[in-house]
Amino acid sequence: MQRIVSGMRPTGKLHLGHYLGVIDNWVKLQNEYECYFFVADWHALTTKYDKTENLRQDILDITMDWLASGVDPEKSTIYVQSQIPEIAELHLYLSMITPQNWVERDPTLKDMAKILKSKEGMTSQINYGLMGYPVLMTADILMFKADFVPVGIDQVAHVELTRDIARRFNNVYNCDFFKEPQPKLNNCSLICGLDGNKMGKSFNNDIKISDTAEITAKKVMSAITDRSRMRKDDPGHPDDCEVAFKYWKIFGSNDEINTVKEECEKGLRGCADCKRQLGAKINERMAEIREKRKYYEQNPKLVIDILNLGADKARKEAQQILKEVKNLVKMY
Ligand code: TRP
Repeated sequence: MQRIVSGMRPTGKLHLGHYLGVIDNWVKLQNEYECYFFVADWHALTTKYDKTENLRQDILDITMDWLASGVDPEKSTIYVQSQIPEIAELHLYLSMITPQNWVERDPTLKDMAKILKSKEGMTSQINYGLMGYPVLMTADILMFKADFVPVGIDQVAHVELTRDIARRFNNVYNCDFFKEPQPKLNNCSLICGLDGNKMGKSFNNDIKISDTAEITAKKVMSAITDRSRMRKDDPGHPDDCEVAFKYWKIFGSNDEINTVKEECEKGLRGCADCKRQLGAKINERMAEIREKRKYYEQNPKLVIDILNLGADKARKEAQQILKEVKNLVKMY
């Protein structure tokens, strides 16, 4: 079976953008591929090395979001990156053969540096670890010899670099050891935020996987609709409805979407009523996931056990591959 490797940095509870654009896709991939899904906690340290108070909770939270959404430890190997020290060791070997200008030209890194600078002012600097971000990511991917790497568009350059480094390793050590993995695009922009902009935790416009039905309903009531519509019996324009109708297209059945469109255009459906129904619709879709998440929240030991088991499985595989790498490099 072909292999998939993908990871996410533990940045807090996931929202519907992650669920619809990334996780739901992972859940499907599990049936066709041998999947390795991991929490990239070392990657979190590249920018947040001094803000680690919540790191452990963030790792558990993201894992619970995955498990609740249907990422299945029976099908996929789920682990925390730092529980596989072999990845750090592989990173070291790869760093020896990676020209400095290959990492310096990395566009994502340049963006991250810019964001970091704007946040922290003149005192900020790029640490050695952040510089190595794309090489660490390469180690994550090559460690398990992935065929495909599901990533967002912003990460494709990293997978390109992974291919370059794999090829370079094979050249330098005169072997055909690493395959060149292919990126597989996620679509994180499937759903916009409640204000019509990109959904994001820091924009305060998201609905979390872990939000309760009440909170979700309340948030949906704040979603932007057709701004030109003043009274509820004015004819509406679903295509100009900035958020609510877009959500209907994601969460409604074809019949429901048609009904909403017709009633809105005829002025038979006010925006408030429409959003009340929409909130209920979203809650219907998320109910089972939230119940499952609650179960894991109440049984954190289960989550920890799943992560430990996944790490054991991943480590075995990683040890084998690292042994071969060390042989090829001719280490003692
Ligand atoms: N860099 C990725 C991100 O920020 C996370 C990541 C780390 C990753 N290592 C990976 C993704 C390996 C895919 C494969 O989203």
